[in-house]
Amino acid sequence: SGNERINIAIDGPAGAGKSTVAKKVAELLGYVYIDTGAMYRAVALAAYRSGVDAADGDRIARLLETLKIALYPGPDGQRVCIDGEDATAAIRSREVTLRVSQVASHERVRLRLVEMQRALAASKGAVMDGRDIGSHVLPHAELKVFLTASVKVRAARRFSESGAEQGVSLEQLEREIVERDRADAQRVHSPLVRASDAKLLDSTDLSIEQVVEQIVAWSRTKLAEA
Ligand code: DC
Repeated sequence: SGNERINIAIDGPAGAGKSTVAKKVAELLGYVYIDTGAMYRAVALAAYRSGVDAADGDRIARLLETLKIALYPGPDGQRVCIDGEDATAAIRSREVTLRVSQVASHERVRLRLVEMQRALAASKGAVMDGRDIGSHVLPHAELKVFLTASVKVRAARRFSESGAEQGVSLEQLEREIVERDRADAQRVHSPLVRASDAKLLDSTDLSIEQVVEQIVAWSRTKLAEA
């Protein structure tokens, strides 16, 4: 005992704080952090730049076959490269955010990215965040967390991150979050859903530190059992 590593799946709606929290949990445990939303965003960005309609799943899937999407752990978090170009900032643009749910709704796109995600977590020691990690990508993850927060709090967090900078009002961000939640939860293929064995963590009234502490405590319990 002591050398075992586990996989940790963190799912939840937009703005629940998954990436901030997952990054810190990974740092504390010495694990790799894998932001799967960034992969869907990279595909959405590539499609947008190539003028491919977000509704055209077949063309996006064909485009994806030609792309090299790479994730690298960096000092400021995960970096994303598309065909060797650093796209870490570009995938957070509004153009991408407004299209990514539709891009992520296509089965062929998901099949390919899920395959990549499973390969990235194959040697354990991964903290992976997304929408379908505990329910579909890593159904055997030793620890599954479903992280939520009220819509108001999630919109406020997104606003303070980059909303003001991008000239969007808090109210507009809130409407977009509700719409994205709806799209992510209602899609046919691997919708946003809490796995039956996922621990529910509502971060509405918690600080980032408190959320991180709780997840690390759960991990230690799982590691002790492993
Ligand atoms: O977490 P995020 O906002 O960066 O995710 C971007 C989009 O990608 C989100 O609208 C839902 C989709 N997504 C998904 O369908 N499955 C995942 N595992 C991760 C993200």
